Amino acid sequence: MTADKNKKRVYVGMSADIIHPGHLNIINEASKLGSVTVGLLTDEAIASYKRLPYLEFSHRKSVVEKIKGVDEVIPQHTLDYRPNLEKIKPDFVVHGDDWKDGVQKEIRQQVIDTLSKWSGRLVEVPYTKGISSTMLNKAVKEVGTTPEVRLKRLRRLIASKDIVRIIEAHNGLTGLIAEKTAVDVNGRRMEFDGMWASSLTDSTSKGKPDIEAVDISARMNNINDLMEVTTKPIIFDGDTGGKPEHFVFTVRTLERLGVSAIIIEDKVGLKKNSLFGTSVKQKQDSIESFCRKIQAGKKARVTSDFMIIARIESLILKTGMEDALKRASAYIEAGVDGIMIHSKSEKPDEILKFCENYDRFSKKVPLVAVPSTYDTITDEELSSAGVDVVIYANQLIRSAYPAMVDTAKKILTHSRAYEARENMMSIKEIINLIPDCINND
Ligand code: SPV
Ligand code: MG
Repeated sequence: MTADKNKKRVYVGMSADIIHPGHLNIINEASKLGSVTVGLLTDEAIASYKRLPYLEFSHRKSVVEKIKGVDEVIPQHTLDYRPNLEKIKPDFVVHGDDWKDGVQKEIRQQVIDTLSKWSGRLVEVPYTKGISSTMLNKAVKEVGTTPEVRLKRLRRLIASKDIVRIIEAHNGLTGLIAEKTAVDVNGRRMEFDGMWASSLTDSTSKGKPDIEAVDISARMNNINDLMEVTTKPIIFDGDTGGKPEHFVFTVRTLERLGVSAIIIEDKVGLKKNSLFGTSVKQKQDSIESFCRKIQAGKKARVTSDFMIIARIESLILKTGMEDALKRASAYIEAGVDGIMIHSKSEKPDEILKFCENYDRFSKKVPLVAVPSTYDTITDEELSSAGVDVVIYANQLIRSAYPAMVDTAKKILTHSRAYEARENMMSIKEIINLIPDCINND
C-alpha cells in the first residue's frame, strides 16, 4: 500500500524490533490523523545509539507493513528524523511521550523545529504502561541464543556499526563481564559487542605459555563455558591455525558451535606471543603457503557467515610496511573475510600508516586492530582510520592478576586477610554475583 495523496500525511519513526501493544497504539492513533508512513530505523541507525536489533531491517519491514493502519514503510537511515521529514513534509509526526529525556530529547526538539517550517505538528501518545522494549529485550536475553543466531551476529554488527568492540573473555566469569558490562556515556548506552577467545589469556589462565601448548580441545572447553552464560558473538584466536589438514577440522568445529570467526596469524614453527616481537625467534609463513591454508579453511566451512580472518605479522616481525600491504592484498585475493593488522609499537603511527594505505585498496575486507601496546588511541580514532573491529585482547586478565597477587602478599605479610579488604568485593557481593536461577539478572 502507498500513502493516500488526499489525506493528511502522518509520519511515525520506529525501530519495531519486538512489536508490542505500545507500537500498535501509536500506529492506531496516527492512522486517525491521516495516511501513515512508518520511517523504519535501519540496523545502522539503531546500532548508532543502542544494541543491534534482533531482527534485520528486511524482516522488521515485512512485519510492520502488515500492521493495520500502516500505509507505507520507508527506511530512516539515521536517528535524526530531519532528512525524511524534509522529504515527506508530513502534517503530523506521532511518537510516544517517553522521549522527552535521554538520547532522544534533542531529536524530539529537532522534529518540532523542522515541522514548524510547514506548520506541521508533533502529536505525543501517552506511553503504554506495563510494557516496553527494554523489558522485552531483557526477556529475550533470558531466553538466550542459538549457535546460528550468535554466529551470524558478528557480520551484522560489522555491517551496522562504525566500530565493533570486542573484549577478551577466558572463562564464564569474564564472559559475563563482556556480556553485561554497560555504561552510560552522554545518554548513549555503551557495551561490548562480543568476545575474543585469546590464546594468551586462555593459556595464562591455565598457567601455560602462549605457544599452542593448550590444545584445541581445551580451548573448546573454554568456548563452551563462555557460551553457557553469554549471547554475544565470539572471535576465536586460532594462533597459526596449525597444519592446513588440522585447520579444516578446527573451522568445522567452531562453526558448528556458533563461533563467528577465527583469526589465524601468518607464522610457522613454534609460535610465541606476538608481543615478544623480534626478541624471540619467530618465523613468518610464505604468502603462498598461508594462502593455501586460508583456502583450505574456506572450503571446509559450511556457511558463508563464518569468517576466516588473516592476521598479518609483518609489522611485529619487522619485515616492513610494504610486506604487510602485499600480504593484505594477497590474502584478500585468496578469499579471506577480514584482515587483522597487528603491531607492538607504543604509538599508533604504524597502524595508522597501514590503514591509510589499506584505504586505497580497490578490494577491501573488514579490518581488525588490537591496540594492546598503542593504547592511547580511541575506538573513534581507529574507526576514522578505517578499522572495523577493535579487540581489547588481554586487559581483563591483566587487571585481575595484580590484584590477586597483592591480596596473597597482604595475607602472608599480616597473617590475616583484613588488610586485603580494599582489594576485594564483599562476601555478600560474591555470593550474590551469580544468580542461582537461569532467569535472574
Ligand atoms: C592473543 O590475545 O592471544 C593475541 C593477541 O594473539 S596478542 O597477544 O597481542 O598477540
Ligand atoms: Mg594469541
